[in-house]
Amino acid sequence: MTAAVATTTVVIIPTYNERDALPVTLARLRAAVPAADVLVVDDDSPDGTGELADRCAADDVAVHVLHRTGERGLGRAYVAGFRWALARGYDVVVEMDADGSHRAQDLPRLLAAVPGADLVLGSRWVPGGKVVNWPRRRMLLSRAGTTYTRLLLGLPLHDATGGFRAYDARALARLDLDAVASRGYCFQVDMAWRVVRAGGTVVEVPITFVEREQGTSKMSREIVVEALARITAWGVQHRARQLGRGARALGAKVRSSVPRR
Ligand code: GDD
Ligand code: MN
Repeated sequence: MTAAVATTTVVIIPTYNERDALPVTLARLRAAVPAADVLVVDDDSPDGTGELADRCAADDVAVHVLHRTGERGLGRAYVAGFRWALARGYDVVVEMDADGSHRAQDLPRLLAAVPGADLVLGSRWVPGGKVVNWPRRRMLLSRAGTTYTRLLLGLPLHDATGGFRAYDARALARLDLDAVASRGYCFQVDMAWRVVRAGGTVVEVPITFVEREQGTSKMSREIVVEALARITAWGVQHRARQLGRGARALGAKVRSSVPRR
């Protein structure tokens, strides 16, 4: 008998009305990384994605489904998925969209970067990364979002809003998931920010993001407004803390310059 203990990975896929895309994404994922389990987190999709996911799970023991009812939101769905994954003792927890934008063939490179990192970000905005078929306004929104985040939070990341990433489960377990209030896509920035503040190591790996061919994006005005409000609030808190530290440091210097009697 060998004593080697294999790393266990779960890929969390949040879904809202992804009936056409989900089976394709699952098939590609299972083929590209057969050792990984999958957790679909469906928010009671009106188009029947939840029932479809149940049928996929019945055919494949590696596929699991979490049904959420009563509330919607990418952030809430992921937090529920993280809790599920941590309770089951997975070593690595992956986030991936259902719509085909995140290519399963890029996942092995993300996973290869996990040893030594707390969070591996699939990045569109580093050399080698790219976006295929995005309208100009989405391109601008993503670039502007990342730039705003860098300026306000001082977050040294090139793609803090992306949703194709892998966490070392130990790093995830150290975070206070109860404190995560982000409902929409700012959840991605929220999580990266938490890992960085906890002193974690973040590694960016280039990915190719391909705009979906089926279904529609759930990006909305509400999601943009929430992101702007929360990132601004985090930035103000962060800068206030920095000023506080600066003032205390200055105070210490002033005091030390007073001659002792
Ligand atoms: N469970 C659940 N609940 N899933 C959701 C919800 C929700 O309220 N809203 C969206 N999703 C799922 C979608 O079904 C899809 O699998 C994934 O989240 C991404 O949603 P899209 O609507 O396709 O996002 P996008 O392509 O516009 O945005 C992408 O880029 C954003 C900005 O970089 C994603 O990668 C986002 O994660 C990313 O923040
Ligand atoms: Mn998408």
